Amino acid sequence: MTALLEVEDLRVAYGKIEAVKGISFKVDAGEVVTLIGTNGAGKTTTLRTLSGLLKPVGGQIKFNGKSLKKTPAHQIVSLGLAHSPEGRHIFPRMTIEDNLRLGAFLRNDKPGIEKDIQRAYDLFPILGERRKQAAGTLSGGEQQMLAMGRALMSQPKLLMLDEPSMGLSPIMMQKIMATIAELKSQGTTILLVEQNAQAALSLADHGHVMEVGNIVLSGTGQDLLHDESVRKAYLGED
Ligand SMILES: Nc1ncnc2c1ncn2[C@@H]1O[C@H](COP(=O)(O)OP(=O)(O)OP(=O)(O)O)[C@@H](O)[C@H]1O
Ligand SMILES: [Mg+2]
Repeated sequence: MTALLEVEDLRVAYGKIEAVKGISFKVDAGEVVTLIGTNGAGKTTTLRTLSGLLKPVGGQIKFNGKSLKKTPAHQIVSLGLAHSPEGRHIFPRMTIEDNLRLGAFLRNDKPGIEKDIQRAYDLFPILGERRKQAAGTLSGGEQQMLAMGRALMSQPKLLMLDEPSMGLSPIMMQKIMATIAELKSQGTTILLVEQNAQAALSLADHGHVMEVGNIVLSGTGQDLLHDESVRKAYLGED
């Protein structure tokens, strides 16, 4: 079976500075794969490149067996790769419902869109209760829910989440992680970037540890969770 996403020797640079220095990993359909690592490791750069927002200087990206090398960002979305970006980037003056609709901007199956808006409200009831309010009135955690809901509106084959727990209270973080687990159980394939290594590895099938542009360690979520060097560096143990 070919993987849903295959990344091979990917290199990405900002000018002369190489932020991603030749990484390889894959995501199989139905899996949760996580990239963990310290600030500046190149995690966001990797996701932005997969989305077509940055052009790689080398390597291969294959999605569903097809090279994304020459595919523009909007086409990547319509192929089924959705991105919930770091920092959320919701539109604060627009209503919650209109923010969700934006996620479906490439679709024209109106009944399907309405069904998926309902699905987002089932997943995150608070969004439904406040559907007509400006998105900027939501709390940080609720805005994260909206960003995830919006990404799901494109009916992705692969959902990429960049630091969904950033800045959230422990309770809100647990809620977001539980939702990721629920999406996984519904069959959504997820590439999860997280600084909260414990939470990410606990629900991931596979994980990769990034340090200054390289993948330095890979394994199953459980293997990495119990790896001594990971525990020391990322789980605050000594
Ligand atoms: N627009 C940019 N121009 C120049 N350098 C950049 C730019 N964006 C990121 N970088 C650099 O690329 C490297 C990787 O950054 P990136 O944002 O991918 O890391 P990250 O792993 O997502 O970190 P964090 O956990 O802090 O979000 C860093 O050294 C960063 O300073
Ligand atoms: Mg980042």
